[in-house]
Amino acid sequence: MRSSFVRGGVFGGALAAFVLAVGSAQAAPEEPRTSMRQVFLSLVQLLPPALEGDRFVDPARRASIAAALDDLAAAGERVRRHGRGADTATRLLTRDLADEAQEMSALFSRGRAAEARYRLLDLTETCVACHTRGVAAGSFPLGARLVERLDAGELSPRGQARLRVALRDFEGSARYWETVFRDPTADPAELDASEALLDYMTLVVRTRPDFARARTQLRALAARDDCPRYLRRRIRVWDQHLDRAEPKPDANPSLKTAREHLERATDVSDFPGDRDGMVHTLLAAAELSRLVEHLGAADTKAEAALLAESFYWLGVAELRLGPASWVPKAEIYLESAIRTAPSHPYAERAYALLEEVDVLTFGGVGPEYLPPRVRATLAELRRLIESQQTTRAEPARRLGSAR
Ligand code: HEC
Repeated sequence: MRSSFVRGGVFGGALAAFVLAVGSAQAAPEEPRTSMRQVFLSLVQLLPPALEGDRFVDPARRASIAAALDDLAAAGERVRRHGRGADTATRLLTRDLADEAQEMSALFSRGRAAEARYRLLDLTETCVACHTRGVAAGSFPLGARLVERLDAGELSPRGQARLRVALRDFEGSARYWETVFRDPTADPAELDASEALLDYMTLVVRTRPDFARARTQLRALAARDDCPRYLRRRIRVWDQHLDRAEPKPDANPSLKTAREHLERATDVSDFPGDRDGMVHTLLAAAELSRLVEHLGAADTKAEAALLAESFYWLGVAELRLGPASWVPKAEIYLESAIRTAPSHPYAERAYALLEEVDVLTFGGVGPEYLPPRVRATLAELRRLIESQQTTRAEPARRLGSAR
């Protein structure tokens, strides 16, 4: 364990003991979980002062925060190494985490503590993006214990719920939302507008499927006097879809099932951005994430082709769910589709969609005006496709609009 866990006295004895417990419970040194725990251990040091901004920029704490940020950067490097053997999307996400951790540490050491603090709070979105992708294996009880000790009052309700997911306290996050849904001062329309329902449904449909629980909670929300009619109707639609779907975590994931869910989501949507199809889009995303995990690094050409296609549809599913965080998940999946199999017809299609998303994200200006980093990535992906290109037709478009 690194010295910084003992240094500084951010926590009292109880938490120090719990940190020691994490340290001694470490698995074999090269397991991804071990690196995740290293990340967690640096956050044990960093989150309390970051949530109270004054403490983060306090010169008296400079040395201990700098040390914890160094630890985080080192843990990020370990995570990056683990990512190298994984699928492309995991590699891109682990690269983001490692780069961010390094930049934060550099910012802090150059005296830009306030900026480093914001970047740290943003970093938890990368954790959320990864932890909610597919069916998550397990919760991490120490994450829940850390959240209980944090003073997260400065964060929005959504920020508090997402911090729990970042620390893999999935149950705590679902329960948090369920408490908010029953709170008479929380306006249901506002909850919908602030994506609370999307976050809650992501947890109970995609990440930790429990449809009976989701249905009970949603119905209670719909029964509130202050629930607007549109939301009541939508919850009824979701309720029917959940009633007909059953979680099948043991069945082999298939592209066919995922595509069927996406088509059903399109069928029930009357306009782009219509949320009626959300249950089916979440089910499609869960199925595709399982498939990606199942295919892993995709050793054969046929597997790479299937993986690329899965990434493409995952990108489409994320686009339909909307930009739920600043982590560009759709873009990551579309890029992964291209990198996984640049000669596959889906690479061309993924490129077109990625370029469109980038252009629209940055205000509808043409590709030549995009930020240099985005432009460079697009150019690289274009070269990658062209270097492999033989004449071939684009696959037929079977689904409706991307959103
Ligand atoms: C590239 C995807 C990815 C990113 C990014 C990511 N995680 Fe994880 N994390 C995982 C996976 C997968 C597991 C489950 C590993 C297992 O159970 O074998 C996990 C597990 C964990 C665990 C539990 C470890 C254990 O011993 O059970 C913690 C804690 C954790 N992550 C914290 C974080 C934090 C904090 C961040 C962000 C700073 C983060 N992770 C970012 C994929 C990710």
